[in-house]
Amino acid sequence: MAKDSTLMDAIVSLCKRRGFVFQSSEIYGGLNGLWDYGPLGVELKRNIKDAWWRDMITTHDELDQPEGSPRKFQMVGIESSIIMHPRVWKTSGHYDLFHDQMVDCRTCKARFRADHVASSECPQKPSKCPGEHETCELTEPREFNLMFETYIGAMRDEDNKAFLRPETAQGMFVNFKNVVDSNRVKLPFGIAQQGKSCRNEITPRNFTFRTREFEQMEMEFFCHPEESPKWYAYWRDRRFKWYTDLGIDPEKLILRDHEQDELSHYSVGTADVEYAFPFCDEGEFGELEGVAHRGDFDLRSHMEGKLVRQGDELVVEQGEDGKPKYPGSGKDLTYFDDETKERFVPHVIEPAAGADRTVLAFICNAYTEETITNDKGKEEARIVMKFHPRIAPYKVGVFPLLKNKPELVAKAREVCNLLRPHMAVFYDEGGAIGRRYRRQDEAGTPYGVTIDFETLGENDSADKDTVTLRDRDTMEQTRMAISELLAFLLEKIR
Ligand code: GAP
Repeated sequence: MAKDSTLMDAIVSLCKRRGFVFQSSEIYGGLNGLWDYGPLGVELKRNIKDAWWRDMITTHDELDQPEGSPRKFQMVGIESSIIMHPRVWKTSGHYDLFHDQMVDCRTCKARFRADHVASSECPQKPSKCPGEHETCELTEPREFNLMFETYIGAMRDEDNKAFLRPETAQGMFVNFKNVVDSNRVKLPFGIAQQGKSCRNEITPRNFTFRTREFEQMEMEFFCHPEESPKWYAYWRDRRFKWYTDLGIDPEKLILRDHEQDELSHYSVGTADVEYAFPFCDEGEFGELEGVAHRGDFDLRSHMEGKLVRQGDELVVEQGEDGKPKYPGSGKDLTYFDDETKERFVPHVIEPAAGADRTVLAFICNAYTEETITNDKGKEEARIVMKFHPRIAPYKVGVFPLLKNKPELVAKAREVCNLLRPHMAVFYDEGGAIGRRYRRQDEAGTPYGVTIDFETLGENDSADKDTVTLRDRDTMEQTRMAISELLAFLLEKIR
């Protein structure tokens, strides 16, 4: 797929025009790398997060062995705080290592990520890469920690410094013992969480793809070290399938295993789920999710202190005084298996997805421009967002054929009241019916229901109490009894 800036521009424009995504604080000129969701965007994102939560937690049956899984397992959720104890980030390695290299231009004062210079634009005209204008004067790369800092309490000094979390994962590791002790969960089990994370990205870009505040959907799966390779393979494949089950075009999605030199310092193996976004160059993809085998790195770090690799071993890093540089909690985070009477540090498999990137992938995947022949036999352009019904912001649009016919409006309201307790319904009585359909096509509403004179049984119509049901993608219109509508729609949005 070639990079398609025109397509991306059209998608960004639709997102603003229809209220999916707005620039943060736009009336004040906006803030780079920060975005807001509008009325349609918030529903879409909520539905995507719900689909993930349902898949991970609500519909998981611990007495049943899911297809392809090594064995039965338990799944629970938590919600941890965004500001955590500063020691969490010291032992996890983020304080010392969560850096990007940045370069500054002394001439134009712009700042770039060192590894993005070749694909960045110098603000000077004509458009070139940083360093390519004669006047460019780039500094040597310097390290820049991506964690946002804040202060707890009134004193703004080192002792009270804290960080906005750059990932939700640590919330699961530090609560491992709490969850085991309070919920009687047994290995293997997963702890899932969704929530905001913040990273002071040097060069946020590509719309909502790389932002400074974003939401993650992460799950930490704790298992016996010997079983961990099988669980890694299971979660890697299962997470890939989640995207295609919800309608992502499999031709635009890849599962890419990391090369050895790409692996994080703790990772035994990682695979990324990546999507061919329109802003990607030919053959390139953008990461939606990383599935990592993290070994025992995290639980050991929070027990013993910050770890470093020494040959094949992970050892506690020593400070100049020969003591642990950043001591752990000292709490016992081992697991005792009642059946085998074995005590060990569980290994962790982590599928870590970005909710906002996933939303963007679903938006790009849904965006379709078509040429259709209208009622008058003329060709016209149609933009339609072909979302899977489960994630579509609204599931059904309800339209009285005419707004000035009280009987039609009353019947349409009756249909809304029938459906609304079960799904998001959009009621629209304004304008020609064709225009109302088009508006819902752009919003991605999979079904339209029109209440017309047949519905009212005028002229002894045999179609009394039936409606016109329009399919967004095929534009086919059929008649359906109002009494069958709810069951039909519920089946489609399941
Ligand atoms: N706990 C592991 C972890 O956080 P990560 O690859 O850094 O791993 C996981 O982040 C996911 O979070 C990414 O695959 C991506 O979808 C999302 N993500 C990370 N940084 C982001 C950013 N600046 N803007 C939007 N999403 C981001």
